[in-house]
Amino acid sequence: MPKPPQAERPRQTERPMIEIRNVTRSYGSFKALDDASLTIKEGEFFSLLGPSGCGKTTLLRMIAGFDNPTSGLISVDGQSMEGIPANRRPTNMVFQSYAIFPHLNVEQNVAYGLKRLRLERSEEKRRVEEALVQVSLTGLGKRLATELSGGQRQRVALARALVMRPKVLLLDEPLSALDKKLREQMQVELRRLQQAVGITFVLVTHDQYEALAMSDRIAVMFGGRIAQVASPKEIYQRPVNRQVADFLGGMNFVKAEIVEEDGAGCRHAGLRPRQDRQAEGFRPQWRGCDARHPSGASARVVGQCDGEIRSGRQGGGAPLLRRDHSSDR
Ligand SMILES: Nc1ncnc2c1ncn2[C@@H]1O[C@H](COP(=O)(O)OP(=O)(O)OP(=O)(O)O)[C@@H](O)[C@H]1O
Ligand SMILES: [Mg+2]
Repeated sequence: MPKPPQAERPRQTERPMIEIRNVTRSYGSFKALDDASLTIKEGEFFSLLGPSGCGKTTLLRMIAGFDNPTSGLISVDGQSMEGIPANRRPTNMVFQSYAIFPHLNVEQNVAYGLKRLRLERSEEKRRVEEALVQVSLTGLGKRLATELSGGQRQRVALARALVMRPKVLLLDEPLSALDKKLREQMQVELRRLQQAVGITFVLVTHDQYEALAMSDRIAVMFGGRIAQVASPKEIYQRPVNRQVADFLGGMNFVKAEIVEEDGAGCRHAGLRPRQDRQAEGFRPQWRGCDARHPSGASARVVGQCDGEIRSGRQGGGAPLLRRDHSSDR
């Protein structure tokens, strides 16, 4: 496979590329997005993750300029996007349906957006070729879009967006039409491509494994609100609440009792030993056999598991909550 050209742009930095400030999108009294705030950094592979209807596409479309916030501000690369139409934003979007033109061949599809830039013919050709190399489609330029497989169509859609050299690429469920094997292959390729071109990617997905596998950071959303923004590892190991914990992979919940006030977690939580009970969550691979809870407090199981224990051991009163570091990501 030919190597993508070297990055011309900076890699990941701490500089904010997209800033979402208190953004709400209402339809009548219904809030599809409710007071969302978020900063996405330059060069980051960022995912918006959440169940169907939680507002992911709504947010992506407002970044792209296909819709406007009811209130709040969006800026890209330090510039407010208020009043700026989609085609003048430094963003480009890849749609779930790919939206490629069936009557045009691959090259013509990729060159489509370049026409309005009125480049020299040779420069246009060079940029189309570069984009086709980036997505590993060299040699297929003359094929009609209807003569391509699902995965190849996906690549045409990507090339068509990349050829415009956006600062931000917005991807709405780009892999959902592909079968499982191809989807997993494209996850790896998409991540590699993002690292090669070095631009900011914002991916919308409802597939937690996809988000965990590909992203530098993830925003987990429910019901129009952002519940947590963190790295995959942090979200997996330290979900902010039960909803996030349950959405991101298997989680077992048990009722636990603090038995000794010797750990920081116990003191910080203001829990009283032998009096307060709380629900504790642990991942199936955090096998239990020690008397230490990850928070630092000692704990023992005193109640029924809230749902099936998916693997590991449930000790009837036996300590359960030691982390198995060998299985961490
Ligand atoms: N034009 C509209 N008018 C009214 N409600 C809308 C409109 N567009 C979206 N919504 C509602 O806003 C909510 C968020 O929609 P959105 O498309 O952002 O969800 P999503 O997270 O992308 O879901 P999915 O994973 O199914 O694509 C949904 O409840 C949807 O029905
Ligand atoms: Mg959507």
